[in-house]
Amino acid sequence: MAIKPLIDLRSDTVTKPTEGMRRAMHNAPLGDDVFGEDPTVNALEQRLANMFGFEAGLFCPSGTMTNQIGIKAHTQPLQEIICHRESHIYCYEGGGMAFNSQLSTRLLTGNRGLITAQQVLDNINEENVHKPITSIVAQENTSNREGGAVHKVGEYQKVYEVCQQHGLKHHLDGARLFNALAVTGDTPASYGKAFDSISICLSKGLGAPVGSVLVGNADFIKLSRRIRKVFGGGMRQAGVIAAAGLYALDNHVERIADDHRRAKQLEETLKSLSYIAEVFPVDSNLVIFRLAEHVLADSFIAKLKGEGILAINMGPQLVRFVTHLDVDDAAIDSVCATLKTLA
Ligand SMILES: Cc1ncc(COP(=O)(O)O)c(C=O)c1O
Repeated sequence: MAIKPLIDLRSDTVTKPTEGMRRAMHNAPLGDDVFGEDPTVNALEQRLANMFGFEAGLFCPSGTMTNQIGIKAHTQPLQEIICHRESHIYCYEGGGMAFNSQLSTRLLTGNRGLITAQQVLDNINEENVHKPITSIVAQENTSNREGGAVHKVGEYQKVYEVCQQHGLKHHLDGARLFNALAVTGDTPASYGKAFDSISICLSKGLGAPVGSVLVGNADFIKLSRRIRKVFGGGMRQAGVIAAAGLYALDNHVERIADDHRRAKQLEETLKSLSYIAEVFPVDSNLVIFRLAEHVLADSFIAKLKGEGILAINMGPQLVRFVTHLDVDDAAIDSVCATLKTLA
């Protein structure tokens, strides 16, 4: 009996480099990046900085590191960060904002991951010795735990105005920012007018194996480079992996629309199934759904695994599928057919 290949919908981080990407990595010109001498890293950092309307960039191993460095470079201990209660920096970075930056955290509930200008205004601490000093607002686009929710840059520009009026920094976790851009048609440069810093991941929707880039103004990136060294993130011939990022920017941006179309197909199928209580609105490549009361996520995920489909748990009854470079139309058709048999 033929063994069905696994269809891995756990995350868009599971993709393997394509042949073309591997060739680009093999051929990349290299140097020691801690000395600032890796031409491929320098090219990647400058390219993303220019694209998003900033002066400089910093290549790091992970999106967690670019977020944590960005937050640390913008703040001082005893200050407070405003972020969404479902944000990655709060839920999935191990308490790093307290550990690395000694920050107090103001958690807000917002519309599908977005913190609005009014919410910021309502949550800035007044000058009072009892209260931490509000100093930064962090956003996430697309919002992972809100099912890949996408917001338009105009919303962030309004928040940025408030941040500037009150001396706050505005940071974006743009782990899947290229997914958001594919949906809204906003230009990357417009983001430079809405944030002080952005973390951009290459290893998610863009399909590179490793790497994220933090972009911002030159002084901020200079400080961030020092912090990266202290965090142990200074890499040497890192052009080997930066080349994958450059290749992804050239070859994997347009195709993101295919991932979104396939996520919609999953949404449609899931909505038609009696054992699904709710499907979060699908804007991009993430599909989160709630199982009916009597079905638990872990047992449903185990059942799917038996059918060769991998998914992850986002709560006792929440399951997440993610479409990406390594799942094609045939794979999604097969997942939809299987889902219909599991009723
Ligand atoms: C929204 C978001 N931000 C940040 C990260 C962190 O990226 P990394 O796994 O590279 O640390 C992730 C990872 O999935 C994410 O989904």
